[in-house]
Amino acid sequence: MRMSYKKKVFYIGLFIIILIIFMHPDMQGVRSYEFIAKEKIISSLHEELATNFTSSAISNCEYYANVYDETVLSPTLVDGDLVESHKIKEGGEYAPVECKPKYSTAIIVPYRDRAEQLRGFLVYMHTFLHYQRIHYRIYVVEQIDTKPFNRAKLLNIGAKAAIKAGFPCLILHDVDLLPLRPANLYMCTKQPRHMSSSINKFRFVLPYVNLFGGVVAILSKQFQTINGMSNEYFGWGGEDDDLFMRLEDHDLKLCRFDPEISKYHMSIHSSQQKGEEIKKLLSSAKERMSTDGLNSLKYAEVATVMHPLFTHIMVDLEQK
Ligand code: UDP
Ligand code: BGC
Ligand code: MN
Repeated sequence: MRMSYKKKVFYIGLFIIILIIFMHPDMQGVRSYEFIAKEKIISSLHEELATNFTSSAISNCEYYANVYDETVLSPTLVDGDLVESHKIKEGGEYAPVECKPKYSTAIIVPYRDRAEQLRGFLVYMHTFLHYQRIHYRIYVVEQIDTKPFNRAKLLNIGAKAAIKAGFPCLILHDVDLLPLRPANLYMCTKQPRHMSSSINKFRFVLPYVNLFGGVVAILSKQFQTINGMSNEYFGWGGEDDDLFMRLEDHDLKLCRFDPEISKYHMSIHSSQQKGEEIKKLLSSAKERMSTDGLNSLKYAEVATVMHPLFTHIMVDLEQK
């Protein structure tokens, strides 16, 4: 039986469309990766509280049930309001009162010009973190100048403030990512952890095994050991790959949780490409790491405001 010309054209067209879809970078990825088994999660955590944290609770908080929590949250929570009983302290700090927490975490968000996303993020995250029963504080570091955005430098600035406030654990967090599973614990593991390995944008597939961007957890001590992140990445992309190289150079192996637990929702936005400058920086990452980072961090702190839901650090990267 011979196919008609029209049918042939149709099938060839269909084949080409499918091929293009599967060749798209967002469709590639690591189908399975190594992760910490559920029964080993609690023992993989680094137990430490912020230096000046005190609690009057009698019993310790327990976290076993968190690991086995099957709840999947809806990103529509961002449209809600915060419950009064959450009792968040000025500067976006919280600790449970019914039990003494075992972990203190500083969540650091690089930010500019995404007011609607930030509002939703804060409502969602305070609700989410309330159920984690940890001591935490949210730092939003805003770039107020008009230079291209510098995510890594803002994260360095936030990390410096959090470390000064005695936080032993840092979670570096994009404002447009929402964790969907309460079982994704917002505490540091002993090894640096890539937390956002399953994002809707990438069809919940890890794009590449060395990805260390989006949301990551790292001990303050480890962040200091690797000299933080590079200050040189203005514009989109690469700074997280540079961070990964720093870990590699210091024999710090990253870890992950189960893809089911590591699910995140990212609000839809267009994809960008790495510029030539960024590619050049990446090729010299290893040579720069000892001189470009926390030890060379220069910026003008314009103001720090204790907002009811977050510590707002405003910085000008143009002025030194
Ligand atoms: N960001 C921001 N304003 C900007 C660009 C970036 O606040 O103009 C912050 C924000 O936290 C965002 C993160 O940097 O989630 C990463 O940027 P983006 O989401 O554009 O990158 P991608 O998701 O494509 O890696
Ligand atoms: C970029 C990273 C980015 C990743 C995922 C890579 O090509 O270098 O900065 O996080 O893509 O979008
Ligand atoms: Mn994003």
